[in-house]
This record gives sequence, C-alpha cells and structure tokens, in this order.
Amino acid sequence: MLLEIVISFLIVCTIQERVGLLKSEDGIDGYDSRIKLEAESGSLPTDVIEKFPHIRNYKPFKVPSDFDIRDLVKSQLAVVCFDAEGRMIQGTGLQLPGVLDELFSYDGPLGAHFTPEGVSLHLWAPTAQAVSVCIYKNPLAESPMEICPLNEVNGVWSTTVASSWEGCYYLYKVSVYHPSTLKVETCYANDPYARGLSGDGSKTFLVNLNSDDLKPEGWDKLADKKPCLRSVSDISIYELHVRDFSAHDETVGPENRGGYLAFTIKDSAGVNHLQKLSDAGLTHLHLLPTFQFGDVDDEKDNWKSLDTSLLEGLPPDSAEAQARITEIQNDDGYNWGYNPVLWGVPKGSYASDPTGPHRIIEFRKMVQALNRIGLNVVLDVVYNHLHASGPHDKDSVLDKIVPGYYLRRNNDGFIENSTCVNNTASEHYMVDRLIRDDLLNWVVNYKVDGFRFDLMGHIMKATMVKAKDAIGNLRKESDGVDGSRVYLYGEGWNFGEVAQNGRGINASQFNLSGTGIGSFNDRIRDATLGGSPFGHPLQQGFITGLLLQPNGHAHGPEATQELMLSTAKDHIQIGMAANLMDYVLTNHEGKEVKGSEVLMHDATPVAYASQPTETISYVSAHDNETLFDIISLKTPMEISVDERCRINHLASSMIALSQGIPFFHAGDEILRSKSLDRDSYNSGDWFNRLDFSYNSNNWGVGLPPKGKNEHSWPLIKPRLQDPTFKPQRSHIVATLHKFLDLLRIRYSSPLFRLDTAKAIQERVRFHNTGPSSIPGAIVMSIEDGHKGIPNVSQIDPIYSFIVVIFNSRPSEFSFLCPVLKHRNLELHPVQVMSGDEIVKKSVYDTFSGNFTIPARTTTVFVESRNV
Ligand SMILES: *[C@@H]1O[C@H](CO)[C@@H](O)[C@H](O)[C@H]1NC(C)=O
Ligand SMILES: *[C@@H]1O[C@H](CO)[C@@H](O)[C@H](O)[C@H]1NC(C)=O
Ligand SMILES: *[C@@H]1O[C@H](CO)[C@@H](O)[C@H](O)[C@H]1NC(C)=O
Ligand SMILES: *[C@@H]1O[C@H](CO)[C@@H](O)[C@H](O)[C@H]1NC(C)=O
Ligand SMILES: *[C@@H]1O[C@H](CO)[C@@H](O)[C@H](O)[C@H]1NC(C)=O
Ligand SMILES: *[C@@H]1O[C@H](CO)[C@@H](O)[C@H](O)[C@H]1NC(C)=O
Ligand SMILES: *[C@@H]1O[C@H](CO)[C@@H](O)[C@H](O)[C@H]1NC(C)=O
Repeated sequence: MLLEIVISFLIVCTIQERVGLLKSEDGIDGYDSRIKLEAESGSLPTDVIEKFPHIRNYKPFKVPSDFDIRDLVKSQLAVVCFDAEGRMIQGTGLQLPGVLDELFSYDGPLGAHFTPEGVSLHLWAPTAQAVSVCIYKNPLAESPMEICPLNEVNGVWSTTVASSWEGCYYLYKVSVYHPSTLKVETCYANDPYARGLSGDGSKTFLVNLNSDDLKPEGWDKLADKKPCLRSVSDISIYELHVRDFSAHDETVGPENRGGYLAFTIKDSAGVNHLQKLSDAGLTHLHLLPTFQFGDVDDEKDNWKSLDTSLLEGLPPDSAEAQARITEIQNDDGYNWGYNPVLWGVPKGSYASDPTGPHRIIEFRKMVQALNRIGLNVVLDVVYNHLHASGPHDKDSVLDKIVPGYYLRRNNDGFIENSTCVNNTASEHYMVDRLIRDDLLNWVVNYKVDGFRFDLMGHIMKATMVKAKDAIGNLRKESDGVDGSRVYLYGEGWNFGEVAQNGRGINASQFNLSGTGIGSFNDRIRDATLGGSPFGHPLQQGFITGLLLQPNGHAHGPEATQELMLSTAKDHIQIGMAANLMDYVLTNHEGKEVKGSEVLMHDATPVAYASQPTETISYVSAHDNETLFDIISLKTPMEISVDERCRINHLASSMIALSQGIPFFHAGDEILRSKSLDRDSYNSGDWFNRLDFSYNSNNWGVGLPPKGKNEHSWPLIKPRLQDPTFKPQRSHIVATLHKFLDLLRIRYSSPLFRLDTAKAIQERVRFHNTGPSSIPGAIVMSIEDGHKGIPNVSQIDPIYSFIVVIFNSRPSEFSFLCPVLKHRNLELHPVQVMSGDEIVKKSVYDTFSGNFTIPARTTTVFVESRNV
C-alpha cells in the first residue's frame, strides 16, 4: 500500500465537494502535484501524542525533506491511498494545526501598533495566499478609499500605514483555501486583534487605546484607587447582566438604561443597591459577557421592542407574554451574550452609540464608577467556542483568516460542538496566545479585576496557568495595573471531547488543584437544593425539605431519603470547608474521612480543591432557575411564602458563611424570580427583570418561554396561579436586609475567610455528625489560635471562637454539644441588631452546651476575646 499527498494549487474547481475527490474510479482529478509519503515504523512521537492524545494510535508517515511544507500548507491537501494496481482506495483531507504550530508559532506583534512612523499592522495567516488591507474613511462606506497589500514573512503578514489613518476603519481581504467549501475563498475579515468596531460590527476601528481622548478623567491613576484587597480569600462575587441592571430602573434616564453608563449614575436605585452590597462587604461585581457577541444588533434603531402595556394585568400564568416575547426575541436588545464574535472589543449594544470610540470610553467609565463604589469588576469571558465559522458568515472572523485552525475538530474533520457550536482549540499555540493576549488587553486597557471563564474545562490547563502568570506579572509602575490582584475562576466541568483529558490536560475542577484558579462547586449547589439542573425539577435537597417536608415526588423509601439527606450534609460540610481534598471530617457513618474520599454517585470525589481560592461556592447563577424559583418548585405547594423566604435566606447563608469564595446571582438577595424560566438567555427584559425599587420580584409575569420550559408548564402553572406564592415588598426588603447582614458577618472576622488549607483544617470543625446526628442541621465551629493550641496563630483580634448553626428543619431543634460547653458564646452583634426577630430566639446554654435554634434559621454565635 502506498500513501501519497495530492496537492492541487488553486485549481480546485474540479473538486466540487468532499466526496468528489473519491468518485473517479481510477484516480483523482484536479491536482497539481503529488508527493509520496514515507511510512515510519513505530508510533507517533511522544510530543505529538502529548499534544494530540486523541490520535495516539495513528500511524506515522513522513513528508520527504525535499518539499517545502511552508508552501504546501497554502494549498488544498489530501491524503490518498492506492492499491498495488494504482487504484485509489481511500482519500481524505488533512488537519493542519499541528504543522502550523510547529512551523509558524509566533510571539511578535499582532494587530495595530501605533508608532511615530505610522501604524503597523500584523496578521498571522500562514495558509493565506494573499492578504491586503482595505481602509475605509467612514464606517458605512461600501468601497474602500485604499487597498494596500501586506507582505508575508513566515506566516505573518504586515504593512505600515500612515498615522493619519487613525480613526478610520479597516478590513483584511484574505485569499485562502477553505476546507469547509473546498475552494480558495476571498474573505473579508475583521482584525482578530481588533480594539474597536464600526456601529454595525462589520469593520475594525483603527484606534489607539492609549490616546488621551479615550480616557476618562483620572483613568491613568485608577490603579491607586482600586478597592483594597488584603487577600484573594477575601473575595465575594455578585453576578449581574449589564442590561438587567438598569433596563427597568426609572431613576436612570432612558438614554442610559441597559448600558454601561447606567453604572455611573449617582444615586440611581441600582447604584444605591450596589453601594449597599459594597458597604456590607461585597468585593467583586461579575458582569455577564461584555465583549462583542452575536445575536443583538449594536444599533438600537434596529431593535424591535415589546409594547409592555399589552402584558400588564394578564393572569400570572398567561401564555401571552412568552408568545409575544418569543416573536421578537432575536430582534430585541436582549441576550446573555455567550456567542463570541470578537473577544477584544466591548459590546456595542451597551454603549450609547456603537460607532467609534464611545463603547471604549463608556466601558472605562463603568469600571471606574464601580471601583469608586468599592467594587472590583470581573468579566465573563467565553473562549471555548465561537459564534460563527466559515468564509462567509458576517460573524465569522478567525476562521476566515486561518480556516480550520482555531476550531477543534474530531477525527473525521467535523468541528466539535459540545459547547454549543464551533468549539475552539486552546491546545493550538496561536489560540492559546490569542486568549492570553486578550486577557492582558482587558486587564491593561480596561483595568478589570478578574475573569470568569465560561466552560473553562474546555480550555487547556496550560493556557489557564500561563494566562494567570502573565497577568500576575503586570506591575503598577510599568503596566499601570497590579496584575497580582486579578482573580481567575470558571466552570471546570468535565464533558465533551475534552472529557478525561481527551485533548490534553484541561482546566477541569480536579486538574486545577494547586493553581489558585477557582472553579464552581456544583456539589454544594446540588446537595443544598436537591437533584441537579439535569435531574427532576421536584427532587428535594438539604434545604428544600428532603425527608423532613416531602413534596410528593417519589424520592424512594424512607431509608433511602435518610441516606440522601445525610450524604447531602457531608457534601455541604466539605463544601463549607472550601471543598478541600484533604479536609478531614466525620461522615454520616461516623468515619473520619478526607474530602477526596467522599464520593458522589458517579464515584468521583466530592472535594477537588487544594486551597480555598480554588472553590467558588454557589447555589444559583444566571443558568437555570433563580434561587427563589427553584425553592418555589421544590418545596411543598402548601408551605407559606414566609417559609420560602426563610429557605432562600438559609441557602444564601450557607454560601456566605462558607470558606472559599462565595458567589451570588444578582437578585438572590431580593427574591428575584423569572417566573420559573430555567434558561432566560433570550427571554427578553420581561422575564429577566430586576427591580431595585423592591416593589416586585417578577414572580407570575406569565408562563416562561415555551422552548426550554414547555415540558415543565404543568408544574409551573399551578404555582404561578397560586397567589400565596407571590412575595410582598416586605418580604423582599427583609430578605435584602438579612442578606446584607450575612455579608457583614462574613467580613466581621477573618475566620470566615481563611486563606490556607492548613488554617481551615486547624480551625473549622463540624459537630452533630455521624449516624445519630440530627438530620437537616449543620453545626460548624471556627476556632482561632490561642495558647491552648500550639502552632495555630491568632488572626482575629475580636473573636476567639465562632459557632454557626444552620437549621433547615421545618421546626425548632435543640442540640446538646458537650465539647462546646463553658463558652462565652453570644448571638453575633449583627444578628442582635437585625430585623429578624426569629433568629433572636436562638438560645445557647453555656453550662450544658445545649443550643436551641428556630426552624429554618441560620444563627451565628461568637465568643469575644475580651470577656
Ligand atoms: C459553526 O457556526 C456556524 C455559523 O457560522 C453554524 O451555522 C454552525 O452550525 C456551527 N458549526 C457547528 C459544527 O456547530
Ligand atoms: C455536532 O457534531 C456532531 C458530530 O460531528 C454532528 O453529528 C451534530 O449534528 C453536530 N450538532 C450540531 C448542533 O451542529
Ligand atoms: C478535562 O480533563 C478531565 C480530567 O482528565 C476530564 O475528565 C474531562 O472530561 C476533560 N474535559 C472537560 C471539559 O473537563
Ligand atoms: C486531571 O484530572 C483527572 C480527573 O478528572 C485526573 O485523572 C488527572 O490525573 C488529572 N491530571 C492532572 C495533570 O492534574
Ligand atoms: C441549566 O442551564 C444550562 C445552561 O444554560 C442548560 O444547558 C441546561 O439545559 C439547564 N438545565 C435545565 C434542566 O434546564
Ligand atoms: C509545632 O511546630 C514545631 C516546629 O515547627 C513542630 O516541631 C511541632 O511538631 C508542632 N506541633 C504541633 C502540635 O503541630
Ligand atoms: C435544650 O434546650 C431545649 C430548649 O430549652 C430543651 O427543650 C431541651 O430539653 C434541652 N436539652 C437538653 C439535653 O438539656
């Protein structure tokens, strides 16, 4: 058997489609030259297998050394296999990323650089046959005022244009063979390193981000005004969508609603709300995607909007609202934004005017305003996939320039799509580099303070670690920002083609251990609420009534439920100890086990972190139902809304008083509802409404959109119809105050924010454990160093001992804890001052160590040093 590469330079017109190559009986048509491959013995080299584990069993062949591969990659290439008679047996295309990385990996300048001599442009496009830049005076111009060819040196195309072109718009015109069409295509593409865009996103704005015109007053000094951050373990996070923040805020002028500038409006209801959170201790505001994403037109004039007066006064379970919203959902101003078009440019639809410099200036003003109210800013970045690919899609960028390179393909050449569509491949060098460069762009040019990585498990661990190091090296003196305070975290899920390190060691929960990069703890979420986002919506959990207050769902026999509840407690307790692998606790069987030895139902360990900053504790996020909604689904129909509010608070308290990094979704603290919508990414302002006047929580504004919710409508309808489910203003305000109290408690003592695994192991203990423990209650103590414990230092000047009791039972409970007797424990002063009269009924008897805690209450007792 003989293997050959068949090359066809440009003349691909005879090969119309993939199978065309294989059709002719005795050979292949339309090629220009053929190269005989040399079979190699043995397996692929180890470095190749390491980089591409999914082809480890492939047979190696070699291209003879007298061919210049740098030229070959500009052609259409196919590998064809002939039989002894010279008849073709099989043929296939080639995937080139490995070759491109080996020959063309590049660390020099890319994008536009402004120098006294002019503006230099650099584009990495090693497979392109020709590249030129089209310059447009005006963003709407159809034809360029100038087209300049770029010259190639080893895969990098460059030219220098006059400085006077600053402020113009440009596009690259790239002639390149495109495997998806089997043709040499002429593609018009934005610069992958674009730093600005035209209003319609079709052209790159030639902008110098260092220009003074783009800097709000005081911008260069912002690093000195950043909210102080003692330690990464002090971080707490609040996740918010830019548009949700102000779309309905009547204290913000209509021109600023839904955009960046709303964050700069002094004394608006929304800003005052954030100020309260910040004053209580919250440190970080995480914004849903703010880079250039697809599916929302940047030009507001093109939006369709809803006449909401038609929806007022409809029944709470009316299907009318969702029907009208669905009609316009792809043409309105709303989308979460998880469909990246260009990573490095602020989204235009959030700017007052998407053209020219406005989006840049307004984004900076937003960051500055948030920093001024004491909040650090986190961006949600989506590097795991691209909204579009191919030579023609208006939203395709990278794939027009080096077709096929940026995307991860399966062994048959199809683009992987486990993240939705068009998965990217950070195992390819220039993808990894683009991600790092993009992060640095946001840190240096927009001075942001952290990043949340969407589907981080699909990115390679090496990319994450390199990115963290590169950011960490930024210095205030030389770079204008202190990179060491920038925190990285994300979704470390394990699925798709990257599962089990299928494409190299990826940034999944376990693999990140030791990096200081955080990942979301789904264990504490699921144990607390019950089931999982992928399970039955009525499955109950630790706080929603499992065993103790059944909702009628078939959870199995009582013994099974007891086991589920006690297992959930183990998972939550490990989570509260920052989900540390080495944390030792007494499990429900009474055995001393490490976090890594407690297993989930699929036999993977519950714990994955080696330090507290590697765990993001949460129960709710933008995905799936809001906290209030999920509680309203899972708790029995007949309980009162007061009880649901207490459960809502209990859930927030478990997160707020955990070690590790607590994370809250905007509205957890004001009972936010999306009327049970489980995926509101495209459900418009109506279902995503946040009301900082605290008059409504958006419960019962209609049945949520059909697409993702219809099969649950039978569960949803009776709940929405029932008027007792709807909270009143008093419930919303009380929940907010209690939430602020939780933050105040967390920040009242460093013992809630321990910064090493060792400190947690030494200080945090759980009581009420083992087989005879009382179900539905967690008793945690945190002990500071004192003379009696050698080697444990004292870190809290005020409190020497803290006891937190979470009672998720529907009734009061008492617990006798001899090891906690003779303590000077008192109710935390914040709770003493709080408006929650129920928590004040908590009792501790120092002589016996007997605690009595009211139903559905979190009580914090403290022992002060100086008594
Ligand atoms: C990639 O993006 C295009 C849009 O350009 C989309 O139509 C296509 O379905 C995506 N491809 C895959 C394999 O998901
Ligand atoms: C995802 O890729 C698989 C395998 O290539 C393909 O069968 C499937 O149709 C793709 N799905 C989408 C939504 O593009
Ligand atoms: C990443 O690697 C882990 C560990 O090998 C693997 O189990 C997982 O499936 C991979 N992919 C993702 C998305 O996490
Ligand atoms: C990555 O995680 C998997 C489990 O998901 C584990 O088997 C593997 O050893 C880890 N690899 C590294 C390098 O951390
Ligand atoms: C939860 O959210 C994710 C992401 O939006 C979605 O894929 C999933 O379908 C949701 N789960 C349910 C049960 O709707
Ligand atoms: C305390 O530290 C000393 C010196 O580091 C060590 O020898 C000793 O074993 C430690 N004691 C305990 C109880 O950890
Ligand atoms: C603990 O206190 C409660 C409430 O005062 C009481 O009912 C209970 O008997 C006490 N338990 C013990 C063991 O003293």
